[in-house]
Amino acid sequence: MEFLKTYPNNNQVYYLTPELPNFEDFYLKVRELEGRVYTDDFVVNLPYVPPGHEQKKEWIIRQKTTQNFLNYYKKLDLQNVLDLGCGNGWFSSMLVTNNTAEILAMDVNKAELEQAARLNQNKNLNYVYADLFHPDLPSMQFDLIVLNSCAQYFPDSKLLIQRLMKMLSKNGTIHFLDSPVYEQSELAAAKARTVQYYEAKGVPQMAAHYHHLCWKDFTSFNTEILYDPRGTWTRLKRKFDRSISPFPWLKFSKKKTNQ
Ligand SMILES: C[S@@+](CC[C@H](N)C(=O)[O-])C[C@H]1O[C@@H](n2cnc3c(N)ncnc32)[C@H](O)[C@@H]1O
Repeated sequence: MEFLKTYPNNNQVYYLTPELPNFEDFYLKVRELEGRVYTDDFVVNLPYVPPGHEQKKEWIIRQKTTQNFLNYYKKLDLQNVLDLGCGNGWFSSMLVTNNTAEILAMDVNKAELEQAARLNQNKNLNYVYADLFHPDLPSMQFDLIVLNSCAQYFPDSKLLIQRLMKMLSKNGTIHFLDSPVYEQSELAAAKARTVQYYEAKGVPQMAAHYHHLCWKDFTSFNTEILYDPRGTWTRLKRKFDRSISPFPWLKFSKKKTNQ
C-alpha cells in the first residue's frame, strides 16, 4: 500500500486522520481494570491462553470463532483486507498468515496499534490510526472487511455498514465477529447494564463509547447469518460445550441493485 508512505508514521503506525479526543484513555483504563492490557508474550500466543487464566472461557469461545472464520477466509481470493479495530493485532497476524492478501490493520488506539506493529512486521501487513468517519480519510477499497469484537464501539451500526459498503470492492464482503447482538426487547436492559458496569469500574465516561447492536438494524442490508447463536439446539449445546459462541457471525454484501 504505497500511498501510506505519504502519511506521518510513528513507531510503524501511519496516521491517516487526526487523533480522536477521549476514547483511548477511557478505553485503556477499563482494559487495564479488566486485566486486558496484555504483555507482548501473551499477545503473540493469542487466541491461546495459559491454563487457569481468568479469561480462559472467553478465549476458548474466541478460538472457535477464529478457526471457523479462518477455514472460510483462507480459501478466498483476496487482494486487500481491512481489519477494523485490530487492537493489539493478534487477529491481524492470523489474517496475514492465512491468505496472500495485503492487510490493513486499523484502530483509534495508539498504544495497542504500536504493540501490534512491534510484534508483527510483515510486508503484507500495515497498521494505521484512522477514524472511519473523518472527511480526510483517503478513499480505499477492500475485498473483505472484518470487525472482530469491534462493531459495538460504533454508535450507529446502520451508518457503520453503509460507510463500510462504500469501501468494498464489487464482490467484497463485510464480516462482524464476536460482537453481541440483541433483540429490540433486550436493548433497554443491556444499555442499563453497560452504564452500571462502567460506573462500577469508575470510568462512567466509557458508557458513551459502548453501544448495542440490534438484529433489526440488519434487515435493510444484504445480510447472511453464517453462525446464529439463537437456535434452540445451539442454546442447548452451549450449556454443555464451553466453546459454543453466544455471538453471531454476520456477513454483509452489496445488494445487486444500488445500495
Ligand atoms: C475489544 S477490542 C477488539 C480487538 C481485536 N479486534 C480483537 O478481536 O481482539 C475493540 C477494538 O476496537 C477499537 N475501536 C473502537 N472504536 C473504534 C473506531 N471508531 N475505529 C477503529 N477502531 C475502534 C478499540 O480501540 C479496540 O482496539
